[in-house]
Amino acid sequence: MRGIFITFEGNDGSGKSSVIEAIKEELINLGYDVLYSREPGGSKVAEKIRQVILDVDNFGMDAKTESLLYAASRREHLVKTIIPALNEGKIILCDRYLDSSLAYQGFARGIGIDEVYQMNTYATDNLLPDLTLLVCVTPEVGLSRITKNNRSSLDRLELEKMDFHQKVYEGYLKIKDKFPNRIVVINGEQSKEEVKASALAVVLEFLKRNANYEK
Ligand code: TYD
Repeated sequence: MRGIFITFEGNDGSGKSSVIEAIKEELINLGYDVLYSREPGGSKVAEKIRQVILDVDNFGMDAKTESLLYAASRREHLVKTIIPALNEGKIILCDRYLDSSLAYQGFARGIGIDEVYQMNTYATDNLLPDLTLLVCVTPEVGLSRITKNNRSSLDRLELEKMDFHQKVYEGYLKIKDKFPNRIVVINGEQSKEEVKASALAVVLEFLKRNANYEK
């Protein structure tokens, strides 16, 4: 029996991680067999690649190199963790997947959404999630949540970051239009409880519509 592959995407400061945590808890309480995973990482080799990608010492890494490393990490994670779990009929809740590469590397770093998508088609054998929840906040809100300051006190570097955050946000909106049937947007600017409730409603509705999926 094939399980269900659900991914969670969002720009920085969107509150995506607490949404996943809440959904995981609720689905487990309802008796579903749930696997939580995250990218970059999620398997032995993929975690090693994660260390290379996120190492501050590697600041300034070429954008295509970065993109290839994310794709390589993704393939390991897919083959070693996600596909086996799907074959066991689990519900996989994955924090980030290929849409992150499309938004961050494809759009924000300027490689091109279609180019990065093509590379990822090779890396993933075109295995797309069954459902993707995109938790979105405007870049201003996202960044102020991260820095816990308001916009007016951002310094030059933070403003540069602001430009990047803006692009990630725009990138996600473009990707949402590219995959309207798979991606559902959750407004991350609601209260924490409202964000969790709307995300949970989308997941439960999806599971209901896919009723041939049994616990
Ligand atoms: P992480 O510490 O896991 O944070 P987050 O809570 O934001 O998920 O960092 C992952 C970072 O990697 C995040 O800034 C987004 C970025 N990323 C990409 O740029 N491309 C990708 O394909 C993926 C999976 C992540």
